[in-house]
Amino acid sequence: MKKMKSILSVFLAALMLTLAIFPVSAASSLEEQWLNSEEAKRGITVNPGATESERNFSWYMAADVTECRVEISENEDMSDSKSFTGEIITTYQGDKSAKVTVTGLESEKTYYYTCVSGEEKSAVYSFTTDGDTFSALYMSDIHVYDNPEDETSLKDTSLAFAELIGKATAKAPLNLILAGGDLATEGQRVEYEGLTFSKASRELTFATIMGNHDRHSFDYKYFSNLPNEMYGPMSSYQSGNYYFEKGGVLFICIDTNNASAQAHRSTVKEAVKTHPDAKWRIVMMHHDLYGGSIPHRETECNLLRILFSPLFDEFNIDLVLMGHSHHYSISDVIYNGEKVGEIENGGTVNNARGTVYFVSTSIGRPEEEGEEAVAYSDRVAIGMDKLTDSYYNILDFSPEAIKVTSYNLETDEEYVSFTLTKDEDYEPEKIGFFRKLGGILAGFISNFYGIYVNADRYFGLKKAGYTGVGFFEYVF
Ligand SMILES: [Fe+2]
Repeated sequence: MKKMKSILSVFLAALMLTLAIFPVSAASSLEEQWLNSEEAKRGITVNPGATESERNFSWYMAADVTECRVEISENEDMSDSKSFTGEIITTYQGDKSAKVTVTGLESEKTYYYTCVSGEEKSAVYSFTTDGDTFSALYMSDIHVYDNPEDETSLKDTSLAFAELIGKATAKAPLNLILAGGDLATEGQRVEYEGLTFSKASRELTFATIMGNHDRHSFDYKYFSNLPNEMYGPMSSYQSGNYYFEKGGVLFICIDTNNASAQAHRSTVKEAVKTHPDAKWRIVMMHHDLYGGSIPHRETECNLLRILFSPLFDEFNIDLVLMGHSHHYSISDVIYNGEKVGEIENGGTVNNARGTVYFVSTSIGRPEEEGEEAVAYSDRVAIGMDKLTDSYYNILDFSPEAIKVTSYNLETDEEYVSFTLTKDEDYEPEKIGFFRKLGGILAGFISNFYGIYVNADRYFGLKKAGYTGVGFFEYVF
C-alpha cells in the first residue's frame, strides 16, 4: 500500500511538472470549442449598435422557435438581468435568424449576456464597452472556407481566425473587430458559423462589411445585425451600408458590391450630418482604390477612384480601411487625387487635409510562393516586402490621435506604424464646386453600371442554385 502511494505521488508530481512545462494551450481549448458544435452552430454575433450605449445581436434559431431575446446583466451569475426582445427573420433555408438590439449600456463596463431562443438558452458570454480612448483590430479577407475538396479547410480557416483574435488581444486591450469583407470564401452558413465559433469572437464587438465573396450566397444577410442600415439605389440584396459612433469616432461602412456611388454619398452625408462633432471619420469598405500592385486590377481601381474619391474629399474622411487585393498598402495623404501629405513608417501627420487609404492583406488567403511583387502606384507610400506575408493591424483611437500599427501574422513582429493627429488648428479642406458636381454626376451614372453588376450576380446565383428571390427584387 505504501509502495502504491509512493508510485501515485511520483505520478502526480510528474503530471504537475508536465502541466507546468506544457500548459493547456489556447489551441487545444479552441479545439474543444470547435467540437462543441451545438453552441458553435448558433453563429452568435455581437455587432455594434448605433452608439457605444447599444449592441446589436444576431444568431440562428430552429425553424419552430417563435420568440427570441437577449438577457443582459452586470453580474456573471446573471442576477438583476434585463431582457430585450427583437425581430425574427426566416432564412432562405427555412430556419430563423434572431435580431435583437440592447440599449442603455454604460461606457467602460463589462456586461454578461445570454441569447434565448424559445426555451433554449446559450451559455453566458461577456463583452466590454469602451470610453473615448479605445483600440480595435482591423483586418480583411479572412476567407473562412468550406472547400468541398478539402475536409479540414473549414476547421483550419476558422481556427486560424480564432487564433488571430488571441494574438491581437494579447497586443492591446481591444473590444472591437473591424473586418473589411470576404469574411467567407463562398458566403456559406457554415463559414459564418466557423467565423463565430470561438468564445473570444462572441465576446468582442464585430463590425463587418460584405466582400465580393460574401455575395456568393444569401447567408451574409442572416449573419449580421447592423445599425443605421441604409439601402440606397442598387444596394446589394444581402446587405446595405451602415454607420455607428464610438468614442467620438464615426465609422461609416460601405458595401462596395453596390456600384452606385449615389447610394454611398447618401450614407456618408447622413452619417456626417447626424454626427457633426465626431473627431474622426473612418470609412470601411471592401474594394481598394490604391492597392495598385496588381496590374489587372488597375482598371477597376481607376473606376472606383472616379466614383469614390470626390465623396471622401467632400466629407473630409480621415482614413479609409480596405481589402480585396490581398496586397498591403498605405497611401500618402491624398486630396483631389494629389498627394498633400507624406506618410512614413513611424511618422506622424498633424492636421492632414486629405485622406489616407489603407489596404490590409488577406488573413486566410495570402499570396502563394512564386508571386512577384510589382510596382505600386505613385500614391502608395508603404507597400509590403514579400507578397506571401500577412498582417493584422491594431488601431488606437483617442480624440487627439489615430495610431495604426501593423504586425506580421507569422512572427507577431511590428511591421509598420503611422499616426494621424489633430489639434485646435485643424481646418478641413473645402471641396470645389466642379469637383463636387462631378462626383454627384458620376454617382448618378454609376447607377446604370450597378444594374449590370447586380444582374450579373443574380444570374450567377441562379446558376449556382439559389432561388426564392426575383430578378427585380435582387437587381433594383
Ligand atoms: Fe478576398
